[in-house]
This record gives sequence, C-alpha cells and structure tokens, in this order.
Amino acid sequence: MIDTTQLHIPQRSSDELLRLRRTHLNPTLSVAYSQPLKIVRGEGTWLYDDSGQAYLDMVNNVCHVGHCHPRVVRAGSEQMAILNTNTRYLHDNLVEYALHLTATLPAPLSVVFLTNSGTEANDLALRLARAHTGNRGVVVLDHAYHGHSPSMIELSPYKFNGKGGAGQSAHVAVAPMPDTYRGEIRDASDAGQRYGQRVGTAIQTLQSNGHKPAVFYAESLLGCGGQIILPQGYLAEAYAQVRAAGGLCLADEVQVGFGRVGDAMWAFEAQGVVPDIVTLGKPIGNGHPMGAVVTTPEIAASFVTGMEYFNTFAGNPVSCAMGLAVLEVIEEERLRENALQVGNFIMEGLRDLQNRYSGIGEVRGRGLFIGAEFVADTNQRLPDAARAKAVVEAMKAKHVLLSTDGPDDNVLKIKPPIVFSRANAEEFLSKLDAVLKTL
Ligand SMILES: Cc1ncc(COP(=O)(O)O)c(C=O)c1O
Repeated sequence: MIDTTQLHIPQRSSDELLRLRRTHLNPTLSVAYSQPLKIVRGEGTWLYDDSGQAYLDMVNNVCHVGHCHPRVVRAGSEQMAILNTNTRYLHDNLVEYALHLTATLPAPLSVVFLTNSGTEANDLALRLARAHTGNRGVVVLDHAYHGHSPSMIELSPYKFNGKGGAGQSAHVAVAPMPDTYRGEIRDASDAGQRYGQRVGTAIQTLQSNGHKPAVFYAESLLGCGGQIILPQGYLAEAYAQVRAAGGLCLADEVQVGFGRVGDAMWAFEAQGVVPDIVTLGKPIGNGHPMGAVVTTPEIAASFVTGMEYFNTFAGNPVSCAMGLAVLEVIEEERLRENALQVGNFIMEGLRDLQNRYSGIGEVRGRGLFIGAEFVADTNQRLPDAARAKAVVEAMKAKHVLLSTDGPDDNVLKIKPPIVFSRANAEEFLSKLDAVLKTL
C-alpha cells in the first residue's frame, strides 16, 4: 500500500473526490467504470488502487515502456533539478532528441517540430500542410479522432458527428474506414485498393464544395475506429489519390507509434509508404506531456514565412531528456520484439477463445494493438456492445483493466504498455476464459 504520509496533498475518499470534481472541475470529465477506481500508484504493467489492490493495465498506451519506468523518471527528475528552459537557448537535449527521433524514421522525414500533445501536433501539421500546398481542404477517415482543438474537432468525425457535435464542415470530406469485417467492402482480396479509391471520391466531394485538398489525415491503424488493421495496399492507393490532387499525406501515429506494432517502429511502415508528415504523441514521453510533428525539409521550408513557431514548453530540456530515455528503453529492452511475441501470443489465445465461445466475430491486431469484435451473430455481424461492455466490467472485477471502442462500441480494445509480459498475457487469457464461461 502507498505511504500517504509521504504525500503533501490530503487523501480523500472516492465519493468525496467525485463530489468535488462535480463542483469544481470541467463537468464533461468522465470516469471509467460504473464504480470508479482511485488509482494511486503505477509500476510496469500494474496500477494500484488506494487499498493496495493491483490491476493489470491493458488500456494504457501512454505509459508505453511501463508505468513510472525508473530510467524515464530519473531522466526527467535529474534534468528538472539542473535546468528547465525553452528553445530560445541552445541545449544539447533538444538536438540529441531530434537526432535520435529522426533516425527511427525513413528519409526524407528529417525535420522535427516539438509540441506538448497529440492535438497540438495535428494542429501544427494542418498549418504546415496548408502553408506548403496553399490549399485548405482535408480528407479524413470516418470515426477518426485527431484532437480536441477547434480545428481538430472539425477533422474528427468521432466528435463532429457524435453527441454535441456541430456536423461536417465544407472544407472536410470523409472517406469510409477500410473495415474489411463490418465495412462496405468485406473479405475481398482487393479491399485495400478499393477502399483507397474511396479517398479519391472524397477528394471529388471536397472539390465540389470549392476546396482543394491540403492533406489527408489517417491513423496508421484505426484506434477510435475499433482497432482496425488497414488492408494491404490501402495507403499506397489513398496516398496516390491525394498526391495526384496536390495534397499531402499525414500519418497520425499518436496512438500506434513507437514500436507498439512490434515488427516496425511505425505502423505506416507495413503499408510500404512514406508519409509527408508524421504526428506523434501519447507514448512519446511515457506519460510526460509531449508531442511531435516530423516532416520533410521542403515542407518545413514552406512554413518559413517570417512568423516564428514558438511554443513555451515544447522541446524543453526535461521533455527532451524523457523522450530520449523512452527511445533508449525501447531499444535496450528490446520492447518491439516483446510487443510482437506477446501480441501474437494474445491473438492466438483470443482465437482459441473465439472457437470455444460464441460472440467473438473477429480477432485482429498487430503487436500489442489488438481488437476482439463482439457480434450478436457471426453471419450478419451485428454489433454486440452490451456483451463487450459486460466483459470489460467482469474483467475489472477480476482486476484486469480493458476498454471498448469502435463506432458501435463493441470492440474490446487491447493496448497495454509494451512491457506486457507473457505471464501477464496468460493471466489475462485465463481470466477472460472464466468470464466468457459465465456471461
Ligand atoms: C489518433 C489520435 N490523434 C490525436 C489525439 C490527440 O492527442 P492528445 O489527447 O494528446 O491531444 C489522440 C488522443 O486520443 C488520438 O487517439
């Protein structure tokens, strides 16, 4: 149990925290689970509540190399004790970080802009794309989420078509998600190419609204879309359509980057394409708020208009020290290999459960980015959100944290820290087996 006498902040009960949140905090904040958890400590793949109970964390794709990884914590606290300033002074950490980060990306992606979040990265990328192309229009994928700022809400069908959303703007066109399980084109060997052509159709819609495309935003694997793996050939075709119309191609790797897919550092690599802009966030600082845009020298040069891009906190020595430690830990602890092996083991186990119990329509994934889609009927593939939600609550009762996602909220979403071990995976699969037996 955590020693709360070490903390200088009063420790309140969950009920009191909820009451005070309702009074003094943003009223749109949500909490996970019908009985919210008060989590007070994290270590590796584990989270601990205020009674000392351990929970296996299969949700957190931010604390990527494990909660409170000692190396990352040390890098941040040591630098914090020496200096924290901004990019207007020369500092080795900033340049060292840019060198290490760009070394993981294919040419010509060699110029880094640092930000404080994924939203800021996607926002800045929009400005870069507009400056480079002179166009305003944007093509996005259905159900995508790219951030919470006004311009990113406009690029996020997940939000603008959701509760409280203001609908689609004229400068935005939406292409269908390349979902080969429940989408318009299913189980076809040329699905990637055909879905890619739909991006061309979206560009035509944009043009008929008087907008030329500046950029195509697509996650390299679809998170809010329900753990969708892009079919082969999809990005090659989509990028060709966008580039032919004078637009740039952006890979949003905010959720899926930094080796989660196991066989590569970046999820777009499996599609055999090189984006013009890559945006990064969540796992980049292992919980420390950071984000980044990486682009080509030509696109970066188009942004040089005389107006400075200055961002007070972005690229500070503490953030860069932590970002660098994350890259080093991924490499030295061979976490990509771990993600691949443990991810494959989980998918095999899920497919075995799929064969033994009804209701799991499809198991899909790459590395430690995995989805299990719950359907009411495997022929018609009707979504079964109630069952997916029941699984999440029952697993929580067994101290395993999971979530659901997808347009119908029926996809069990698995995206743990990539230090997730085979023993963790065995524990998860045996508890899921027990839960499916009773539901
Ligand atoms: C794919 C994707 N892009 C961008 C963002 C926005 O990142 P942030 O919440 O750090 O602003 C998110 C956040 O969930 C995301 O999932």
